[in-house]
Amino acid sequence: MTNSIKISPSILSADFSKLGSEVISLERAGADYIHIDVMDGHFVPNLTIGPEVIKKLRPLTEKTFDVHLMISPVDKFIKDYAKAGADIITFHPEATEDSAKTIELIKKENKKVGISLKPKSKIELIEKHLHNIDLVLIMSVEPGFGGQKFMPEVLEKTKALKDIIDKKKLKIDIEIDGGINFENCILAKKAGANILVSGSTIFKENKGDLKKNIEILRKN
Ligand code: DX5
Ligand code: ZN
Repeated sequence: MTNSIKISPSILSADFSKLGSEVISLERAGADYIHIDVMDGHFVPNLTIGPEVIKKLRPLTEKTFDVHLMISPVDKFIKDYAKAGADIITFHPEATEDSAKTIELIKKENKKVGISLKPKSKIELIEKHLHNIDLVLIMSVEPGFGGQKFMPEVLEKTKALKDIIDKKKLKIDIEIDGGINFENCILAKKAGANILVSGSTIFKENKGDLKKNIEILRKN
């Protein structure tokens, strides 16, 4: 894990009628990653985008595609998202019968592996896999929709996870996702998060000035 903060804007808050130019604008505005929320209307009560869309976006930027899969069962789609151009593939342990197997499927595609914890999901659920993954995505809202309110209770879990990672001397990124704004980003960083996902704040604050909003999230 690096000490520098990375910003991963969620295109869930972008204008879907011009997704390509939105991704290009995010790159120009200084985004580190592009966060792509994939929802199936089953694991979460919302539907978003599939591999075909990601495939079309792939040639537009070299930025890391940070793909957050909120789909169940997840295994049968790993290959599709890998082939479409995902760089990091993050899944929820509740969406698979065997997290170890899902991790292996992602690795077989030479992609970075992330596991996501919903607000109420405990670290114990993933602890034995930590040595085998690249990233933990802490959800600070219930997955499903952008624009929800940050749940401060996940900060304790973030701190506890950071302690475990440091104690085990692992190189794992901690990403936080949901309701991140200019104030709580400070707390998230302090708790140990080094990748911040943000949809609403980046696309809506300061009249949608992407560059300014990314900079504030990074520097605050
Ligand atoms: C929620 C998604 C988040 C969300 C972030 O299920 O995983 O990535 O879109 O959007 P904001 O920043 O608006 O909470
Ligand atoms: Zn997400």
